[in-house]
Amino acid sequence: MLAGRPELVQYPLFRLTVVSDTDHSSSVLHIPTPNAINPERPLLILSGVTHSYREGDRRRPVLLGIDGDIGEGRFVALLGQSGSGKSTLLNLIAGLDTADSGSIIVRGLELNGLREPERTLFRRRHVGFVYQFFNLLPTLTVLENVALPAELNGLSAAEAQDRALVLLDEVGLADRHESYPDSLSGGEQQRVALARALVHDPALILADEPTGNLDSTTGRHILDLLDHTVRKRGKTLLVATHSQEVAERADAVWELRDGKLRS
Ligand SMILES: Nc1ncnc2c1ncn2[C@@H]1O[C@H](COP(=O)(O)OP(=O)(O)OP(=O)(O)O)[C@@H](O)[C@H]1O
Ligand SMILES: [Mg+2]
Repeated sequence: MLAGRPELVQYPLFRLTVVSDTDHSSSVLHIPTPNAINPERPLLILSGVTHSYREGDRRRPVLLGIDGDIGEGRFVALLGQSGSGKSTLLNLIAGLDTADSGSIIVRGLELNGLREPERTLFRRRHVGFVYQFFNLLPTLTVLENVALPAELNGLSAAEAQDRALVLLDEVGLADRHESYPDSLSGGEQQRVALARALVHDPALILADEPTGNLDSTTGRHILDLLDHTVRKRGKTLLVATHSQEVAERADAVWELRDGKLRS
């Protein structure tokens, strides 16, 4: 098990590696998984979601009542000007932050009712996150980075690494599994991050400007891979982006403007 190294505690997706699966888990870990993907069935439902940030003794409102849903296996692009609240919304859906009001339901599970350790378990089990700046752990090899979420979900190191190798092969990087992230190009690091987001077989993939730090050709390659890999596996995908090209590939486009979604 890789957990226990001090640097892991700092990493947002795995922030609470200290949380035991047996403590708070029953409702969070056992969201029923349907046998077949049905795009008519919402995987994510947002109702009246609001969020503001505290600034001194004032609050800066960012989300003023977000309503929307995404069916299983669908790909939605989230557009909006810088500062419109895209990352804020993704963080709420991932359970990294909590809404001030409204509800966020993922496959029937209401996130706002969860305590912090439960939200951590929810995220660890059901969400794969792809970041603009990859967020790979520099002290772990490529294989260890990808295997980590599966290990945190209880797989043995050997099982997790087997799964990780399959995904690394899918993203064309199996031969780099012993490398460290800083020896990889940006596009290669993002391919590793995509494999890492999928290794624990989460229901929902959230990506925050996954092509924003890449040149256009590399960005297109990542988009192809994200689209293909996620659809092949029947995952539901929400991508915050400034890219019109990403929006054109999506099944639906949400635009965040003045704190609300305009679709
Ligand atoms: N921790 C924070 N504390 C205070 N204000 C914040 C915090 N995080 C974000 N904000 C503010 O909330 C608003 C929305 O930020 P957010 O990062 O969600 O925007 P975004 O749409 O993702 O922008 P970008 O396209 O630049 O990534 C911005 O005005 C930002 O300054
Ligand atoms: Mg952002």
